[in-house]
Amino acid sequence: MLAAPVMKIDVLTIFPEFFEQVFDFGIVRRAKLANIVEINVHDIREFAVDKHKMVDDRPFGGGDGMVLKPEPIFAAIENFVGTSERDTYANGTRVVLLTPQGKPFKQSLAKSFADEANHVVLICGRYEGVDERVNEALVTDEISIGDYVLSGGEAAAVVVVDSIVRLLPDALGSETSAENESFSQSMLDCPVYTRPAEFRGMSVPQVLLDGHHAEIENWRREKALEKTRRVRSDLLTGENGESG
Ligand code: 6GU
Repeated sequence: MLAAPVMKIDVLTIFPEFFEQVFDFGIVRRAKLANIVEINVHDIREFAVDKHKMVDDRPFGGGDGMVLKPEPIFAAIENFVGTSERDTYANGTRVVLLTPQGKPFKQSLAKSFADEANHVVLICGRYEGVDERVNEALVTDEISIGDYVLSGGEAAAVVVVDSIVRLLPDALGSETSAENESFSQSMLDCPVYTRPAEFRGMSVPQVLLDGHHAEIENWRREKALEKTRRVRSDLLTGENGESG
């Protein structure tokens, strides 16, 4: 008997080919091979209900572009989750709609998914939108990955999957993990260097070569703070909602 993975992820998209290799590298690949996560990508068209396999239609009230129809998405959720009534989802089930209208995705939300969810369904929005009844009845979290417009939720789904999977227990090698994590949410990382110590007239800061660990830690903290102040002062003031 094979143990169930820690987390199951279903991605629902009109472009399944987009995901053909994207989860087969690095930490996500390793987590799949270790049975920490199972990721399945599904074509919305497979759940189309009519003979033409229609997945989109024109918006009521007029306007540009096409809107993703509700029926295939409801059928898909019923297939993956067992119900299309949000209130009856099992604990640990999250149904995410990826759109520019969503709540900003943050490390804290990735962490809460990694800690609390065992089944995440990602619906990739497209065109001018998704029929609002999907949001009303199915979606637990409407998420945007930043203040810019993507032509679809597919690239955002890759971002969300990667950021969650690397937080699952045992997904990162023993090298990194916990101690670093509290730091990385509220501050940017310090600069790093490797060999050679001298390259095209640019040298590695002497403190990193001297082997005094307390001084190295001080230098790293100072550089991280300096960089954060310069490019992301919002992380330090709490404006971002991720400080602390
Ligand atoms: Cl999740 N989807 C789309 N289409 N655009 C975005 C986004 C998502 N997040 C930022 N821009």
